[in-house]
Order: sequence, then structure tokens, then C-alpha cells
Amino acid sequence: MAKTVLVRTLGGPEVMEMVDIDPGKPGPGEVLLRQTAIGVNFADVHYRRGTAPPHSQSKLPMPFAPGLEAVGYIEAVGEGVTQFKIGDRVGYATASYTWGAYTEARLFPADRCFPVPDTISDVDAAALLYRTITVQGMIRQCHVVKEGDTILLHAAAGGVGSILSQWASHLGATVIGTVSAQNKVERALSNGCAHVIVHTEEDFVARTRELTGGKGVDVCYDGVGIALFHKSFDAIRRYGLMVSFGQASGMMEPVAPVDLQHEGLYLTKFSGGTYNEDVGEYQERARDVMAAIEAGVFKLGNHLVYPMSEVKQAHIDLESGGTVGSLVLIP
Ligand SMILES: NC(=O)c1ccc[n+]([C@@H]2O[C@H](COP(=O)([O-])OP(=O)(O)OC[C@H]3O[C@@H](n4cnc5c(N)ncnc54)[C@H](OP(=O)(O)O)[C@@H]3O)[C@@H](O)[C@H]2O)c1
Repeated sequence: MAKTVLVRTLGGPEVMEMVDIDPGKPGPGEVLLRQTAIGVNFADVHYRRGTAPPHSQSKLPMPFAPGLEAVGYIEAVGEGVTQFKIGDRVGYATASYTWGAYTEARLFPADRCFPVPDTISDVDAAALLYRTITVQGMIRQCHVVKEGDTILLHAAAGGVGSILSQWASHLGATVIGTVSAQNKVERALSNGCAHVIVHTEEDFVARTRELTGGKGVDVCYDGVGIALFHKSFDAIRRYGLMVSFGQASGMMEPVAPVDLQHEGLYLTKFSGGTYNEDVGEYQERARDVMAAIEAGVFKLGNHLVYPMSEVKQAHIDLESGGTVGSLVLIP
């Protein structure tokens, strides 16, 4: 049996209960994974309380186990699985449609697993995989980040923010990060932000304009949503791009195309579910992510680690908006 976090009705952290589930035997193309570390993402909070974007939320089975990423060992392989053998250490970082990571053991499609190098600890892997594969799509495809770019990044000390600022600054971009509180400034600076704005104390649009000589940034990455999204367009340069990837503070109001006209702005909404749906694209992103991790782009350690039995507290902490970096559960 495998201890598993189960949600039977949507709601607050209290709806998560610990149950024993028999993971079963792997079918064709599947592996049985014994998991050693599990990432906690804001998306898990959204699905649990029912605030994920409608197209994703509507596909959620009930009851369900939350969780989109984990690392572990292969305990059994199903028919046709040739790329892995029992004992291999693998990770996965799926987006929507493959919930269920909050468990000691699970069945999983082999083609959605990838090897995790021995140089990366279980906790680091679980802290990094989903957020790095998200960031990969946003910095390699939505906008190809390059030397000399200027970037406005909200929640720069958070999970995705920490990864994006480290990777983009490594690529030579100047990252202007925003945070909601002074106690997050140091973390954002240590992530590679060249400037950090506490948006609760200072007008982040005016400061961003000032820092870019009045021009505005090439691209804004926003995972905060309603609280900062709409204002951020004024901080983007002519022909610049807004990449919206989340709505931690609530869903944005619709944007009329005509509102983008005056400055010729571009707008996209990133979805990991879409960008990682094709297995070939997903594995290619995973290879790029592993190469970046092995090249030392990201600081390791310094994550918030909880036993899986304290999953409610992990969600309360993440939902409070007070955490920095990534959260990890140990089953
Ligand atoms: N599209 C995708 O495929 C994809 C994939 C991964 C993540 N995401 C999204 O990316 C965002 C970041 O995810 P994460 O897991 O790394 O979380 P996170 O950034 O560690 O936590 C969310 C951050 O948002 C800010 N925030 C502002 N208002 C908030 C509110 N009302 N409640 C909670 N937080 C608030 C806080 O930073 P400050 O205090 O500094 O403002 C907080 O630290 C989330 O919106 C998530 O859904 C999207």
C-alpha cells in the first residue's frame, strides 16, 4: 500500500486527507515508481480549491491526489518499457492531466519519465523539475531570452520567480524583480535580479521605466495575476511582450485587443499543459533543464522541506504568499 494525499471535495487545505492506496501493477508502457521527494506547486493549490484555469480545472477527476512532479526509483516495469529498468532513478514534471504525485508510490507512463543525474539530490530535483520545465518554455519559446534583454519579473523570490531570474540572468538578461515585502528582497537579489522593487512600497511601473531609461522592458513575466497584471503593460516597451503564466492573486480581467494597439504590445498566456503535451517536446525540454541544472545555473539546497504528513501546512504556507523558493514533500 502507498500513503497518498487524497482530495474528495474542493476546498481549503483541510480537504486533503491521508489514505492508503494500492498503486497496482504497471500496465503496458507504465512503470511503478517508489517516490522519494515530491514538489509542491501553486498549481496544486489552484486545483485543490478550484481556481485553476477553467479548461484545466474541468478535466480534474474526483477524488484526486494533487501533485505534478516527483523523483523516485523504478520498482517495476510494464510490458514494452525498454528505456528503463528496475532501480533506475527518474523524475517527472508533468503539467495538467497527470495529477497524483502526492503519494509514496504510483504508476506512471514511462515515456513521461526522464533520468535524474546522481549529482542532483532528491530534494533539489523535486524542487526544480516542474518549475524549470515551465521556465524553459517561457524563456526559450514564448520569448527567447538573450544577452542584453530587460525583463520585469513578478514574485521574483517565489518558486518560479527564483528559477526564472537565475536562468535569465545566466543568459545575460537584466532582471528587474518585484516582491511584496522587504524580507524577500535579499532572496530575489541572490537569484540574480539586478534590481528588486517592493511593489507594496513603490510604484513598480514608474521605477521600471526609470531603470530602463524611460523605455520599458522587453518582456514581463507575470504569475501573480489580477493584483499586478494589468498595470504591468505600462512597464513594457513598444512592441514588447507580456507573458502571463499564473494568477496567484486571482484571475485577470479580459484584455481587449485594442488596448494593445497603441504601443503594439504582444500578449500570451503560457500553459505547461500545452507546451508539454507532446512527449517529444516534453523530453526535449527536460534534457535542456537537466543540462542547465548540471551546468550549475541554479543554486541547490535552500528549499522548504516538509514530511508528506504535513502537507496541509505546506499548502497553508504557500497560499499565504509568504514563502520564498520551492516547497518539497518527503513521503
Ligand atoms: N502556466 C504554467 O504552466 C505554470 C507552471 C508553474 C507555475 N505556474 C504559476 O506560477 C505562479 C508561481 O507558482 P509557484 O508555485 O512558483 O508559487 P510561488 O511563486 O512560490 O508563490 C506565489 C507568489 O505569488 C505572490 N502572490 C501575490 N499575491 C498572492 C496571493 N494572493 N496569494 C498567494 N501568493 C501571492 C507571492 O509573491 P510576492 O509576495 O513576492 O508577491 C507568492 O510568493 C503561480 O501562479 C502558478 O500557478 C504556472
